[in-house]
Amino acid sequence: MAAAAQPGEKLPSTRALASRFGAGPVTVQRALAQLVAEGVVETRAGLGTFVRRRAATPRADVSWQTAALGPERSGPSPIGSSMRQVPHDTIAMHSGYPDADLLPMREVRSAFGRVVRRGHDDAFRRPPTAGVPELRRWFVDDLGLDGWRDTDAVIASGGQAALAATFRALAGPGDAIVMESPTYWGAISAARQAGLVIVPVPRTDGAPSAADLDDAFASSGARLLYAQPTFANPTGDVWSAQQRDDVLSVARDRGAFVVEDDWAHDFAIEPGPKPLVCDDTGGHVVYIRSLTKSLSLTVRVAALLARGPARSRIENALTVSDLYVAPVLQAVALDVVTRAAWRTHVQRLHRELRSRRDALLTALAVGAPMVEVPRPPRGGLNVWASLPAFGADGAPVDPDLVAARALAGGLSVSPGGEWFPAEPTGPFVRLNFAAAPPERYDEAVAILVAAL
Ligand SMILES: Cc1ncc(COP(=O)(O)O)c(C=O)c1O
Repeated sequence: MAAAAQPGEKLPSTRALASRFGAGPVTVQRALAQLVAEGVVETRAGLGTFVRRRAATPRADVSWQTAALGPERSGPSPIGSSMRQVPHDTIAMHSGYPDADLLPMREVRSAFGRVVRRGHDDAFRRPPTAGVPELRRWFVDDLGLDGWRDTDAVIASGGQAALAATFRALAGPGDAIVMESPTYWGAISAARQAGLVIVPVPRTDGAPSAADLDDAFASSGARLLYAQPTFANPTGDVWSAQQRDDVLSVARDRGAFVVEDDWAHDFAIEPGPKPLVCDDTGGHVVYIRSLTKSLSLTVRVAALLARGPARSRIENALTVSDLYVAPVLQAVALDVVTRAAWRTHVQRLHRELRSRRDALLTALAVGAPMVEVPRPPRGGLNVWASLPAFGADGAPVDPDLVAARALAGGLSVSPGGEWFPAEPTGPFVRLNFAAAPPERYDEAVAILVAAL
């Protein structure tokens, strides 16, 4: 129907579509949510659903590829919903990134100007494969790491590239990797794509327990743990001093690596501890920090810090896939982070995140008392919300369906299932409070409740 309709045309109501096609209203809502996600139709609050552009009619018959490709190693939907593009007026609580007004856009623009004007310097020459030395030095110094050299750091184009290269470099197809559960979908997909077998360990009190971790290493033979000790995505948890010691000591005893994804380094709401890598003396921790989310989505620059042969292997893996990161982007990142305005920006970010987190928690407590937040996030961008097990109709709550209905109603959220490396332990959704304006939180909560 959307394929035949003209752009701007209004679609019939859900009820009318359901009776016309002999489908249930839920099926119709799912189909509409899919069309919204594809950008074919858009919902306008209070007005209905409208065609944005004609749906393309598939031309080429590519069915032969099913047999040629065989099973998909990274699962049926390896890209998390947080990467989805949504219509402009949708409340975007699914996103993995902060809203542009929380980012130092002016400083980034000026930095591009300065870098281009300087013209003759390293920004326009091929950099060393491991990255511009001054930027590597900045990452090492900013952590206050004693005894580390800039040559221990490698620049990558974002945290995702760094962690995918790490998995490829430190493990091979069929090897096991231990992960906290729930955890970042991008790490789950990267491990699957590298052919690794994921062994999940629960976050008990916000971190994997030493006993669970030791069991997981012993039973699987894994030599790799992917972890987010500080402001984990999606839960916002922080490991305690005892939990950090325990994990490091299990890793040492088992001769294993801990891949520390410090994705939220600049997103503290309550002060967090130093990264785990600061306590590592034996080359067990591979540390990843990205500036993509706190500096600019358009400047995809991250650093990976590691020591020993592991570092060379990861650098080789990154070089094989990317050769090097665009020197212009490295120059822009260095220009921004080495100015006084960077500190001011990060401090403002902390304040803004705190006020947005508190506002969303209040909106949920008032407007959606049936939704629980097991542990308010101490940092990061997200609230990990636990939905009631059963809906008002007595049917089990399905977060995918809730997310699809919410999207059709103008709110985009990330359904919990994609954050679990195995079966979800309950119905959850992840709500990003940094991507949507606080003025729309009450509206967002009302849409979520209606979707439930
Ligand atoms: C926990 C975590 N790690 C890594 C990344 C990758 O970020 P980027 O590649 O944009 O630096 C993300 C992005 O959503 C993330 O949430």
